[in-house]
Amino acid sequence: MQRVFSGIQPTGIPHLGNYLGAIRNWATLQADHDCLFCLVDMHSLTMPWSPQTLREQTLGAAACLLAAGIDPTRLYNQSAVSAHARLGWIFNCVSRLGWLNRMTQFKDKAGKNRENHSAGLYVYPNLMAADILAFHATRVPVGDDQLQHLELANDIAQKFNHDMGVEFFPKIEPLVPPAAARVMSLRDGTKKMSKSDPSAQSRIVLTDTADEIAGKIRRAKTDSEPLPSEMAGLAERPEARNLVTIYAAVSERTPADILSEFGGQGFGPFKNALAELLVQKLAPIATETSRLLQDETHLLSVLRTGAERARSVADPIVNEAESLVGFLR
Ligand code: TYM
Repeated sequence: MQRVFSGIQPTGIPHLGNYLGAIRNWATLQADHDCLFCLVDMHSLTMPWSPQTLREQTLGAAACLLAAGIDPTRLYNQSAVSAHARLGWIFNCVSRLGWLNRMTQFKDKAGKNRENHSAGLYVYPNLMAADILAFHATRVPVGDDQLQHLELANDIAQKFNHDMGVEFFPKIEPLVPPAAARVMSLRDGTKKMSKSDPSAQSRIVLTDTADEIAGKIRRAKTDSEPLPSEMAGLAERPEARNLVTIYAAVSERTPADILSEFGGQGFGPFKNALAELLVQKLAPIATETSRLLQDETHLLSVLRTGAERARSVADPIVNEAESLVGFLR
């Protein structure tokens, strides 16, 4: 059985992009893969944080993932499993500055004020490679914004193997969903939907109420043309394309099928149908999340059990990696 690993930053309640790009796929893969899913709290320190908020957001994200169908025995938080940090350090010394300099996500996040960002933000992709390779995972379900990081992880694995003269780390294969690999902001169809966008109107989060979802979809930016009947008509219309993509992904239909239903109509009826569909799919997740959040002790114990299982897989692998680099054990 192939081993699957994936992670999400607990920097806020997961949004529709996280759900369609990653989480929904995770839930499906559990049936026939050996899966580990991680709340990457160590990655969340790469941008300014508050300890209390991080704690609350980690619990919130845990509840949300469980509510979205993630098996409790496969979920844990990264900092509870020291293998991540141990292998992360080795990879800091295998990875090359030239490789990290190419990472577009660092450039986007650091913006113009690079000098003032944490060193962690810069070496983050090395830790991400360690997250996966500490488990010898071979399949990684992610949205397409993570593809460059996965290429880097493969470069690191290959260099490690080459330098140590072994075939120790396997090749990683990204699993990107065919639909909705990149869900865009509801306010700007050229920007990715993101937890860090200052406008809450730009994203639907998995705990939004029915009214919030309907309001966000109603206010979602569109243009003045009716919906086209063919896909080609969406080419220069990023906001319309994004909403059609979301509709198709959530309903598990093709965008062409959606356009054959709504083509020629204005956005009014389409938005009403989309809001209704989203409420129907997401409301049960929101209800279950708030139920789970009432029992913090239970959530902590789920994460603790998940971490024990994760340790039992990763520790022998990272012990071996440490021996290979020449650490005395
Ligand atoms: P994060 O927390 O930004 O996002 C979690 C997952 O959601 C996907 N995603 C999206 N998919 C479609 N449309 C969007 N707008 C969208 N926004 C986010 C991401 O691609 C991701 O799959 N570096 C990772 C976390 C990480 C990780 C790992 C992932 C750490 N270690 C090891 C895989 C394997 C991140 O910041 O994801």
